[in-house]
Amino acid sequence: MEISFAQLARFKPTAKTARGALVLLLPEAKTLPKWASDIDSDAYGKIKKAIAGSRFEGKKKQILTILAPEGLQYEQLVLVGVGKGKELGANCHEHIGGKLLGELNSLGVKQASILYHGTKGCKLDEAEAAMHLATGLQLKSYRFDKYKTKEKDSDKPTVESITIAVENSREATELFKTQAGVLDGVFFTRDLVNEPGNVIEPENYAKLIDKTLSPLGVKIEILGEKEMAKMGCGSLLSVGQGSVKESKMVIMKWEGGKKKDQPISFIGKGVTFDTGGISIKPSAGMGDMKMDMGGSGTVVGLMMALAKRKAKVNVVSIVGLVENMPDGNASRPGDVVTSLSGQTIEVLNTDAEGRLVLADCLWHCQDKYKPKFMVDLATLTGAILVALGETTGGLFSNDDKLSEKLLEASKTTDEKLWRLPMGPEYDELINSPIADVQNISSGRWGGSITAAQFLKRFVNDVPWAHLDIAGVATASKASDITPKGASGFGVRLLNEMILKHYEG
Ligand code: BES
Ligand code: MN
Ligand code: ZN
Repeated sequence: MEISFAQLARFKPTAKTARGALVLLLPEAKTLPKWASDIDSDAYGKIKKAIAGSRFEGKKKQILTILAPEGLQYEQLVLVGVGKGKELGANCHEHIGGKLLGELNSLGVKQASILYHGTKGCKLDEAEAAMHLATGLQLKSYRFDKYKTKEKDSDKPTVESITIAVENSREATELFKTQAGVLDGVFFTRDLVNEPGNVIEPENYAKLIDKTLSPLGVKIEILGEKEMAKMGCGSLLSVGQGSVKESKMVIMKWEGGKKKDQPISFIGKGVTFDTGGISIKPSAGMGDMKMDMGGSGTVVGLMMALAKRKAKVNVVSIVGLVENMPDGNASRPGDVVTSLSGQTIEVLNTDAEGRLVLADCLWHCQDKYKPKFMVDLATLTGAILVALGETTGGLFSNDDKLSEKLLEASKTTDEKLWRLPMGPEYDELINSPIADVQNISSGRWGGSITAAQFLKRFVNDVPWAHLDIAGVATASKASDITPKGASGFGVRLLNEMILKHYEG
Protein backbone atom coordinates (compact mmCIF):
# COMPACT_ATOMS: atom_id res chain seq x y z
CA MET A 1 0.00 0.00 0.00
CA GLU A 2 1.31 3.42 -1.03
CA ILE A 3 1.03 6.30 1.39
CA SER A 4 1.88 9.84 0.35
CA PHE A 5 1.41 13.30 1.79
CA ALA A 6 0.01 16.37 0.09
CA GLN A 7 -0.10 20.01 1.05
CA LEU A 8 -3.41 20.65 2.70
CA ALA A 9 -3.98 24.18 1.41
CA ARG A 10 -3.46 23.10 -2.17
CA PHE A 11 -5.18 19.73 -1.95
CA LYS A 12 -7.71 19.10 -4.73
CA PRO A 13 -9.33 15.82 -5.68
CA THR A 14 -8.12 14.46 -9.01
CA ALA A 15 -10.15 12.24 -11.31
CA LYS A 16 -8.29 9.28 -9.83
CA THR A 17 -8.52 10.07 -6.13
CA ALA A 18 -12.13 11.14 -6.37
CA ARG A 19 -12.98 7.57 -7.33
CA GLY A 20 -12.21 6.60 -3.74
CA ALA A 21 -13.10 7.85 -0.29
CA LEU A 22 -12.63 11.20 1.34
CA VAL A 23 -11.78 10.90 5.01
CA LEU A 24 -12.25 13.67 7.53
CA LEU A 25 -10.67 13.38 10.97
CA LEU A 26 -12.99 15.14 13.37
CA PRO A 27 -12.48 16.06 17.03
CA GLU A 28 -15.03 15.34 19.71
CA ALA A 29 -17.05 18.57 19.73
CA LYS A 30 -20.58 19.88 19.60
CA THR A 31 -20.06 21.64 16.28
CA LEU A 32 -18.11 20.73 13.17
CA PRO A 33 -14.83 22.62 12.77
CA LYS A 34 -14.90 25.58 10.41
CA TRP A 35 -12.65 23.94 7.81
CA ALA A 36 -15.29 21.28 7.20
CA SER A 37 -17.56 23.90 5.69
CA ASP A 38 -14.86 24.86 3.18
CA ILE A 39 -14.95 21.46 1.49
CA ASP A 40 -18.23 22.13 -0.19
CA SER A 41 -20.93 24.31 1.23
CA ASP A 42 -23.66 22.17 -0.25
CA ALA A 43 -22.16 18.94 1.07
CA TYR A 44 -21.51 20.54 4.46
CA GLY A 45 -25.18 20.78 5.31
CA LYS A 46 -25.69 17.15 4.38
CA ILE A 47 -22.76 16.00 6.49
CA LYS A 48 -24.23 17.87 9.42
CA LYS A 49 -27.54 16.18 8.85
CA ALA A 50 -25.97 12.75 8.59
CA ILE A 51 -24.10 13.31 11.87
CA ALA A 52 -27.24 14.55 13.57
CA GLY A 53 -29.05 11.41 12.50
CA SER A 54 -26.33 9.08 13.79
CA ARG A 55 -24.52 8.28 17.02
CA PHE A 56 -21.29 9.86 15.76
CA GLU A 57 -19.83 12.29 18.30
CA GLY A 58 -16.21 12.36 17.17
CA LYS A 59 -15.12 10.06 19.99
CA LYS A 60 -11.76 8.41 19.42
CA LYS A 61 -11.94 5.70 16.71
CA GLN A 62 -15.66 6.27 16.07
CA ILE A 63 -16.44 5.98 12.35
CA LEU A 64 -19.38 7.16 10.29
CA THR A 65 -19.47 6.34 6.59
CA ILE A 66 -21.71 8.18 4.17
CA LEU A 67 -22.08 6.43 0.82
CA ALA A 68 -22.36 8.45 -2.39
CA PRO A 69 -22.34 11.79 -0.57
CA GLU A 70 -24.38 14.28 -2.51
CA GLY A 71 -22.51 17.34 -3.67
CA LEU A 72 -19.08 15.67 -3.40
CA GLN A 73 -17.10 14.02 -6.18
CA TYR A 74 -16.01 11.19 -3.89
CA GLU A 75 -17.74 7.83 -3.75
CA GLN A 76 -17.64 7.65 0.02
CA LEU A 77 -17.22 10.12 2.81
CA VAL A 78 -15.72 8.62 5.95
CA LEU A 79 -15.81 10.57 9.19
CA VAL A 80 -13.36 9.41 11.82
CA GLY A 81 -13.47 10.61 15.41
CA VAL A 82 -10.16 11.52 17.00
CA GLY A 83 -11.53 12.37 20.43
CA LYS A 84 -10.17 15.21 22.52
CA GLY A 85 -6.81 16.66 21.53
CA LYS A 86 -5.22 16.52 24.95
CA GLU A 87 -5.69 12.75 25.21
CA LEU A 88 -4.07 12.15 21.84
CA GLY A 89 -0.58 10.59 21.82
CA ALA A 90 1.47 9.02 19.04
CA ASN A 91 -0.03 5.59 19.47
CA CYS A 92 -3.58 6.97 19.44
CA HIS A 93 -2.92 8.19 15.91
CA GLU A 94 -1.63 4.73 15.06
CA HIS A 95 -4.77 3.07 16.39
CA ILE A 96 -6.98 5.56 14.59
CA GLY A 97 -5.07 4.84 11.36
CA GLY A 98 -5.36 1.08 11.82
CA LYS A 99 -9.06 1.22 12.61
CA LEU A 100 -9.63 3.47 9.59
CA LEU A 101 -7.83 1.08 7.24
CA GLY A 102 -10.04 -1.75 8.46
CA GLU A 103 -13.09 0.34 7.55
CA LEU A 104 -11.69 1.40 4.15
CA ASN A 105 -10.87 -2.20 3.28
CA SER A 106 -14.33 -3.37 4.19
CA LEU A 107 -15.85 -0.59 2.08
CA GLY A 108 -13.92 -1.93 -0.87
CA VAL A 109 -12.30 1.36 -1.85
CA LYS A 110 -8.96 1.38 -3.63
CA GLN A 111 -8.05 4.97 -2.92
CA ALA A 112 -8.55 7.31 -0.02
CA SER A 113 -7.67 10.90 0.71
CA ILE A 114 -7.45 11.97 4.31
CA LEU A 115 -7.78 15.60 5.32
CA TYR A 116 -5.85 16.23 8.51
CA HIS A 117 -6.19 19.66 10.02
CA GLY A 118 -4.60 18.71 13.31
CA THR A 119 -6.42 18.46 16.59
CA LYS A 120 -6.61 21.30 19.07
CA GLY A 121 -4.70 20.53 22.25
CA CYS A 122 -2.78 17.58 20.78
CA LYS A 123 0.87 17.63 21.89
CA LEU A 124 2.26 16.21 18.66
CA ASP A 125 2.81 18.61 15.81
CA GLU A 126 0.74 17.96 12.74
CA ALA A 127 3.50 16.40 10.63
CA GLU A 128 4.36 13.99 13.43
CA ALA A 129 0.72 13.11 14.00
CA ALA A 130 0.27 12.49 10.27
CA MET A 131 3.33 10.23 10.27
CA HIS A 132 1.87 8.17 13.13
CA LEU A 133 -1.47 8.01 11.37
CA ALA A 134 0.34 6.64 8.30
CA THR A 135 2.19 4.17 10.53
CA GLY A 136 -1.08 2.77 11.85
CA LEU A 137 -2.57 2.52 8.37
CA GLN A 138 0.51 0.67 7.15
CA LEU A 139 0.76 -1.66 10.18
CA LYS A 140 -2.83 -2.75 9.63
CA SER A 141 -2.29 -3.36 5.91
CA TYR A 142 -0.09 -6.43 6.54
CA ARG A 143 -1.28 -9.77 5.18
CA PHE A 144 0.30 -13.20 5.07
CA ASP A 145 -1.46 -15.12 2.32
CA LYS A 146 1.34 -16.58 0.20
CA TYR A 147 0.16 -20.14 0.80
CA LYS A 148 -3.44 -19.57 -0.27
CA THR A 149 -3.81 -20.74 -3.84
CA LYS A 150 -7.57 -20.42 -4.09
CA GLU A 151 -9.02 -17.65 -2.07
CA LYS A 152 -6.29 -15.11 -1.63
CA ASP A 153 -6.57 -12.48 1.08
CA SER A 154 -5.31 -10.04 -1.51
CA ASP A 155 -8.33 -10.77 -3.70
CA LYS A 156 -10.31 -9.30 -0.88
CA PRO A 157 -10.93 -5.58 -1.19
CA THR A 158 -7.60 -3.87 -0.64
CA VAL A 159 -6.78 -0.20 -0.41
CA GLU A 160 -3.96 0.54 -2.82
CA SER A 161 -3.07 4.12 -2.12
CA ILE A 162 -3.72 6.76 0.48
CA THR A 163 -2.97 10.46 0.36
CA ILE A 164 -2.79 12.33 3.64
CA ALA A 165 -3.30 16.05 3.18
CA VAL A 166 -1.58 17.92 6.00
CA GLU A 167 -0.21 21.43 6.41
CA ASN A 168 3.46 20.53 6.73
CA SER A 169 3.48 17.75 4.16
CA ARG A 170 7.19 18.03 3.39
CA GLU A 171 8.13 17.30 6.99
CA ALA A 172 5.60 14.48 7.21
CA THR A 173 7.08 12.92 4.05
CA GLU A 174 10.57 13.13 5.55
CA LEU A 175 9.49 11.58 8.86
CA PHE A 176 7.61 8.79 7.14
CA LYS A 177 10.55 7.95 4.91
CA THR A 178 12.55 7.01 8.02
CA GLN A 179 9.58 5.26 9.57
CA ALA A 180 9.05 3.20 6.40
CA GLY A 181 12.39 1.44 7.03
CA VAL A 182 11.21 0.54 10.51
CA LEU A 183 7.90 -0.76 9.17
CA ASP A 184 9.78 -2.91 6.65
CA GLY A 185 11.59 -4.39 9.66
CA VAL A 186 8.27 -5.07 11.43
CA PHE A 187 6.85 -6.75 8.32
CA PHE A 188 9.97 -8.87 7.89
CA THR A 189 9.65 -10.04 11.50
CA ARG A 190 5.98 -10.86 10.96
CA ASP A 191 6.80 -12.83 7.81
CA LEU A 192 9.53 -14.83 9.56
CA VAL A 193 7.29 -15.67 12.52
CA ASN A 194 4.29 -16.58 10.35
CA GLU A 195 6.32 -18.95 8.15
CA PRO A 196 5.88 -22.63 9.06
CA GLY A 197 8.64 -24.77 10.54
CA ASN A 198 9.32 -26.64 7.31
CA VAL A 199 10.11 -23.39 5.54
CA ILE A 200 12.01 -21.57 8.26
CA GLU A 201 14.41 -24.16 9.64
CA PRO A 202 17.90 -23.31 10.92
CA GLU A 203 19.79 -23.82 7.66
CA ASN A 204 17.66 -21.78 5.30
CA TYR A 205 16.76 -19.28 8.01
CA ALA A 206 20.46 -18.46 8.29
CA LYS A 207 20.69 -18.17 4.49
CA LEU A 208 17.63 -15.93 4.35
CA ILE A 209 19.08 -13.59 6.98
CA ASP A 210 22.28 -13.34 4.94
CA LYS A 211 20.46 -12.83 1.64
CA THR A 212 18.19 -10.15 3.06
CA LEU A 213 20.48 -8.18 5.34
CA SER A 214 23.84 -8.33 3.54
CA PRO A 215 22.68 -6.10 0.65
CA LEU A 216 21.62 -3.52 3.25
CA GLY A 217 25.15 -3.32 4.60
CA VAL A 218 24.78 -5.63 7.61
CA LYS A 219 27.83 -7.87 8.05
CA ILE A 220 26.82 -11.48 8.55
CA GLU A 221 28.76 -14.34 10.04
CA ILE A 222 27.21 -17.80 10.17
CA LEU A 223 28.62 -20.43 12.53
CA GLY A 224 27.71 -24.07 11.91
CA GLU A 225 27.87 -27.05 14.26
CA LYS A 226 31.56 -27.72 13.62
CA GLU A 227 32.58 -24.19 14.53
CA MET A 228 30.31 -24.11 17.55
CA ALA A 229 31.60 -27.47 18.79
CA LYS A 230 35.14 -26.16 18.50
CA MET A 231 34.21 -23.05 20.47
CA GLY A 232 32.52 -25.16 23.14
CA CYS A 233 28.82 -24.29 22.67
CA GLY A 234 27.69 -27.55 24.27
CA SER A 235 24.51 -26.02 25.61
CA LEU A 236 23.12 -24.67 22.32
CA LEU A 237 24.25 -27.74 20.38
CA SER A 238 22.48 -30.12 22.76
CA VAL A 239 19.12 -28.63 21.73
CA GLY A 240 19.59 -29.24 18.00
CA GLN A 241 21.15 -32.68 18.23
CA GLY A 242 17.86 -34.49 17.59
CA SER A 243 17.23 -32.50 14.41
CA VAL A 244 18.36 -33.39 10.90
CA LYS A 245 18.88 -29.68 10.29
CA GLU A 246 22.20 -28.17 11.26
CA SER A 247 22.10 -25.70 14.16
CA LYS A 248 23.41 -22.23 13.37
CA MET A 249 24.53 -19.15 15.20
CA VAL A 250 24.17 -16.02 13.12
CA ILE A 251 26.06 -12.88 14.07
CA MET A 252 24.89 -9.62 12.51
CA LYS A 253 26.87 -6.38 12.69
CA TRP A 254 25.62 -2.94 11.83
CA GLU A 255 28.43 -0.41 12.01
CA GLY A 256 26.69 2.95 11.71
CA GLY A 257 28.42 4.61 14.67
CA LYS A 258 31.92 5.87 15.25
CA LYS A 259 34.68 3.29 14.83
CA LYS A 260 35.65 3.24 18.48
CA ASP A 261 32.13 3.21 19.92
CA GLN A 262 31.36 0.14 21.99
CA PRO A 263 28.47 -1.74 20.37
CA ILE A 264 25.07 -2.38 21.86
CA SER A 265 23.69 -5.85 21.37
CA PHE A 266 20.54 -7.87 20.91
CA ILE A 267 20.24 -11.63 21.22
CA GLY A 268 17.32 -13.74 20.00
CA LYS A 269 15.97 -17.22 20.65
CA GLY A 270 15.51 -18.89 17.28
CA VAL A 271 13.94 -22.28 17.94
CA THR A 272 12.44 -22.79 14.48
CA PHE A 273 10.18 -25.49 15.89
CA ASP A 274 9.76 -26.61 19.48
CA THR A 275 8.31 -30.10 19.89
CA GLY A 276 9.68 -30.16 23.43
CA GLY A 277 12.18 -32.87 22.40
CA ILE A 278 12.06 -36.06 24.48
CA SER A 279 10.06 -34.11 27.09
CA ILE A 280 7.56 -33.88 24.25
CA LYS A 281 4.69 -31.40 24.26
CA PRO A 282 1.03 -32.48 23.99
CA SER A 283 -0.16 -32.43 20.34
CA ALA A 284 -3.02 -29.97 20.84
CA GLY A 285 -1.77 -26.57 19.76
CA MET A 286 1.75 -27.79 19.06
CA GLY A 287 1.60 -26.15 15.65
CA ASP A 288 1.86 -22.81 17.41
CA MET A 289 5.46 -23.68 18.23
CA LYS A 290 6.56 -22.58 14.77
CA MET A 291 6.60 -19.16 16.41
CA ASP A 292 9.30 -20.20 18.85
CA MET A 293 11.85 -18.30 16.80
CA GLY A 294 9.98 -15.08 17.58
CA GLY A 295 12.80 -13.54 19.62
CA SER A 296 15.24 -14.03 16.75
CA GLY A 297 12.60 -12.71 14.34
CA THR A 298 12.41 -9.45 16.25
CA VAL A 299 16.18 -9.13 16.36
CA VAL A 300 16.49 -9.75 12.61
CA GLY A 301 13.68 -7.28 11.85
CA LEU A 302 15.34 -4.72 14.10
CA MET A 303 18.62 -5.09 12.21
CA MET A 304 16.73 -4.50 8.97
CA ALA A 305 15.10 -1.39 10.43
CA LEU A 306 18.42 0.02 11.66
CA ALA A 307 20.16 -0.65 8.34
CA LYS A 308 17.33 0.79 6.26
CA ARG A 309 17.23 4.00 8.23
CA LYS A 310 21.03 4.06 8.49
CA ALA A 311 21.08 4.34 12.27
CA LYS A 312 24.16 6.06 13.69
CA VAL A 313 25.10 3.32 16.11
CA ASN A 314 27.18 0.17 16.32
CA VAL A 315 25.14 -2.95 16.94
CA VAL A 316 26.13 -6.60 17.25
CA SER A 317 23.24 -9.02 17.31
CA ILE A 318 23.28 -12.78 17.70
CA VAL A 319 20.55 -15.32 17.03
CA GLY A 320 20.76 -19.01 17.95
CA LEU A 321 18.88 -21.10 15.37
CA VAL A 322 17.96 -24.65 16.30
CA GLU A 323 15.14 -27.13 15.91
CA ASN A 324 14.06 -29.04 19.04
CA MET A 325 13.13 -32.59 17.95
CA PRO A 326 12.74 -35.98 19.62
CA ASP A 327 15.07 -38.54 18.04
CA GLY A 328 17.43 -41.39 18.86
CA ASN A 329 20.16 -38.80 19.01
CA ALA A 330 18.20 -36.17 20.95
CA SER A 331 19.28 -35.13 24.41
CA ARG A 332 17.73 -37.04 27.30
CA PRO A 333 16.28 -35.56 30.46
CA GLY A 334 19.10 -35.85 32.97
CA ASP A 335 21.93 -35.24 30.49
CA VAL A 336 24.72 -32.94 31.63
CA VAL A 337 26.21 -30.56 29.06
CA THR A 338 29.04 -28.06 29.25
CA SER A 339 28.19 -24.55 28.10
CA LEU A 340 30.51 -22.08 26.38
CA SER A 341 30.94 -20.30 29.72
CA GLY A 342 32.43 -23.48 31.19
CA GLN A 343 29.46 -23.93 33.53
CA THR A 344 27.85 -27.37 33.44
CA ILE A 345 24.08 -27.69 33.00
CA GLU A 346 21.86 -30.57 34.02
CA VAL A 347 19.11 -30.76 31.35
CA LEU A 348 16.20 -32.04 33.42
CA ASN A 349 13.57 -31.06 30.87
CA THR A 350 14.36 -30.93 27.16
CA ASP A 351 11.40 -28.58 26.67
CA ALA A 352 13.20 -25.84 28.61
CA GLU A 353 15.44 -25.48 25.55
CA GLY A 354 15.35 -21.75 24.82
CA ARG A 355 17.49 -20.89 27.82
CA LEU A 356 20.07 -23.48 26.68
CA VAL A 357 20.31 -21.75 23.31
CA LEU A 358 20.53 -18.27 24.81
CA ALA A 359 23.13 -19.28 27.41
CA ASP A 360 25.80 -19.78 24.74
CA CYS A 361 24.71 -16.80 22.61
CA LEU A 362 24.80 -14.44 25.62
CA TRP A 363 28.15 -15.70 26.79
CA HIS A 364 29.69 -15.44 23.32
CA CYS A 365 28.29 -11.95 22.86
CA GLN A 366 29.75 -10.44 26.03
CA ASP A 367 33.00 -12.39 25.75
CA LYS A 368 33.80 -11.50 22.15
CA TYR A 369 32.14 -8.12 21.58
CA LYS A 370 32.25 -6.41 25.00
CA PRO A 371 28.94 -4.60 24.41
CA LYS A 372 27.55 -1.68 26.43
CA PHE A 373 24.55 -3.86 27.19
CA MET A 374 22.76 -6.97 26.01
CA VAL A 375 19.01 -7.26 25.49
CA ASP A 376 17.72 -10.73 24.72
CA LEU A 377 14.29 -11.55 23.34
CA ALA A 378 12.70 -14.97 23.60
CA THR A 379 9.39 -16.79 23.53
CA LEU A 380 10.76 -18.38 26.66
CA THR A 381 7.96 -19.51 28.96
CA GLY A 382 4.28 -20.39 28.97
CA ALA A 383 4.28 -18.99 32.50
CA ILE A 384 4.62 -15.42 31.18
CA LEU A 385 1.22 -15.88 29.49
CA VAL A 386 -0.23 -16.93 32.83
CA ALA A 387 1.28 -13.85 34.49
CA LEU A 388 0.81 -11.11 31.90
CA GLY A 389 -1.55 -12.42 29.23
CA GLU A 390 -1.33 -11.75 25.53
CA THR A 391 -0.71 -8.00 25.48
CA THR A 392 2.24 -7.38 27.79
CA GLY A 393 5.76 -8.76 27.59
CA GLY A 394 7.86 -9.62 30.65
CA LEU A 395 10.98 -7.58 31.42
CA PHE A 396 13.77 -8.94 33.62
CA SER A 397 17.02 -7.13 34.20
CA ASN A 398 20.12 -6.69 36.33
CA ASP A 399 20.21 -2.97 35.51
CA ASP A 400 17.68 -0.32 36.54
CA LYS A 401 18.83 2.28 34.01
CA LEU A 402 18.54 -0.09 31.08
CA SER A 403 15.11 -1.19 32.33
CA GLU A 404 13.95 2.43 32.56
CA LYS A 405 14.99 3.08 28.97
CA LEU A 406 13.16 0.00 27.75
CA LEU A 407 10.01 0.87 29.72
CA GLU A 408 10.10 4.45 28.43
CA ALA A 409 10.40 3.31 24.79
CA SER A 410 7.69 0.75 25.43
CA LYS A 411 5.30 3.53 26.46
CA THR A 412 6.15 5.56 23.38
CA THR A 413 5.47 2.77 20.89
CA ASP A 414 2.71 1.16 22.94
CA GLU A 415 4.36 -2.25 22.98
CA LYS A 416 3.70 -3.01 26.62
CA LEU A 417 6.30 -4.35 29.04
CA TRP A 418 6.12 -5.09 32.75
CA ARG A 419 9.18 -5.57 34.90
CA LEU A 420 9.21 -8.64 37.12
CA PRO A 421 11.46 -9.31 40.10
CA MET A 422 14.65 -11.35 40.28
CA GLY A 423 16.75 -12.32 43.29
CA PRO A 424 18.75 -14.95 45.14
CA GLU A 425 15.62 -16.61 46.54
CA TYR A 426 14.68 -17.48 42.95
CA ASP A 427 18.23 -18.21 41.86
CA GLU A 428 18.74 -20.97 44.40
CA LEU A 429 15.86 -22.93 42.86
CA ILE A 430 18.02 -23.74 39.83
CA ASN A 431 21.02 -25.16 41.69
CA SER A 432 21.64 -28.71 40.49
CA PRO A 433 22.70 -31.55 42.80
CA ILE A 434 25.23 -32.81 40.24
CA ALA A 435 26.08 -29.85 37.96
CA ASP A 436 26.50 -26.07 38.28
CA VAL A 437 22.94 -25.32 37.28
CA GLN A 438 19.80 -27.16 36.17
CA ASN A 439 17.57 -25.98 33.34
CA ILE A 440 14.29 -26.07 35.27
CA SER A 441 13.33 -24.90 38.72
CA SER A 442 13.08 -27.39 41.56
CA GLY A 443 9.93 -25.54 42.64
CA ARG A 444 6.62 -25.17 40.92
CA TRP A 445 6.01 -21.41 40.76
CA GLY A 446 7.47 -18.34 39.14
CA GLY A 447 8.57 -20.21 36.02
CA SER A 448 9.33 -17.07 34.00
CA ILE A 449 11.50 -15.71 36.80
CA THR A 450 13.53 -18.88 37.29
CA ALA A 451 14.06 -18.97 33.51
CA ALA A 452 15.41 -15.41 33.69
CA GLN A 453 17.63 -16.39 36.65
CA PHE A 454 19.08 -19.14 34.47
CA LEU A 455 19.97 -16.62 31.74
CA LYS A 456 21.49 -14.26 34.30
CA ARG A 457 24.11 -16.89 35.10
CA PHE A 458 25.44 -16.45 31.56
CA VAL A 459 25.65 -12.65 31.26
CA ASN A 460 28.80 -12.17 33.35
CA ASP A 461 27.42 -9.04 35.06
CA VAL A 462 27.17 -7.05 31.82
CA PRO A 463 24.11 -4.71 31.89
CA TRP A 464 21.43 -7.00 30.57
CA ALA A 465 17.69 -7.23 30.04
CA HIS A 466 15.58 -10.19 29.03
CA LEU A 467 12.23 -9.77 27.29
CA ASP A 468 9.99 -12.82 27.54
CA ILE A 469 7.72 -12.31 24.53
CA ALA A 470 5.94 -15.70 24.51
CA GLY A 471 2.60 -13.93 25.00
CA VAL A 472 3.04 -11.03 22.61
CA ALA A 473 5.02 -12.31 19.61
CA THR A 474 1.77 -13.55 18.12
CA ALA A 475 -1.83 -12.45 18.56
CA SER A 476 -4.73 -14.89 18.77
CA LYS A 477 -7.03 -12.23 17.34
CA ALA A 478 -6.62 -9.11 15.24
CA SER A 479 -6.14 -5.73 16.93
CA ASP A 480 -6.42 -2.22 15.48
CA ILE A 481 -2.89 -2.42 14.11
CA THR A 482 -2.08 -6.13 13.91
CA PRO A 483 -3.83 -8.92 12.08
CA LYS A 484 -4.14 -12.33 13.78
CA GLY A 485 -0.77 -14.06 13.87
CA ALA A 486 2.71 -12.56 14.18
CA SER A 487 2.77 -9.06 15.64
CA GLY A 488 6.39 -8.00 15.11
CA PHE A 489 6.48 -7.02 18.79
CA GLY A 490 9.66 -5.25 19.86
CA VAL A 491 11.02 -3.93 16.58
CA ARG A 492 9.56 -0.45 17.02
CA LEU A 493 10.24 -0.46 20.76
CA LEU A 494 13.94 -1.26 20.44
CA ASN A 495 14.32 1.05 17.47
CA GLU A 496 12.82 3.85 19.59
CA MET A 497 15.17 3.16 22.49
CA ILE A 498 18.20 3.22 20.18
CA LEU A 499 17.05 6.42 18.48
CA LYS A 500 16.47 8.18 21.77
CA HIS A 501 19.60 7.13 23.67
CA TYR A 502 22.30 5.63 21.50
CA GLU A 503 22.68 7.68 18.34
CA GLY A 504 24.89 10.71 18.02
N1 BES B 1 8.69 -22.27 23.65
C1 BES B 1 8.22 -22.63 24.93
C2 BES B 1 7.46 -21.49 25.64
C3 BES B 1 6.19 -21.02 25.00
C4 BES B 1 4.97 -21.43 25.50
C5 BES B 1 6.20 -20.11 23.97
C6 BES B 1 3.79 -20.97 24.93
C7 BES B 1 5.03 -19.65 23.41
C8 BES B 1 3.82 -20.07 23.89
C9 BES B 1 9.39 -23.03 25.82
O1 BES B 1 10.46 -23.62 25.16
C10 BES B 1 8.87 -24.04 26.77
O2 BES B 1 8.51 -25.10 26.35
N2 BES B 1 8.87 -23.70 28.06
C11 BES B 1 8.39 -24.57 29.06
C12 BES B 1 9.36 -24.51 30.21
C13 BES B 1 9.14 -25.56 31.24
C14 BES B 1 9.48 -26.94 30.68
C15 BES B 1 10.02 -25.26 32.43
C16 BES B 1 7.01 -24.09 29.47
O3 BES B 1 6.77 -22.89 29.50
O4 BES B 1 6.17 -24.94 29.73
MN1 MN C 1 10.24 -25.69 24.93
ZN1 ZN D 1 10.72 -23.12 23.22
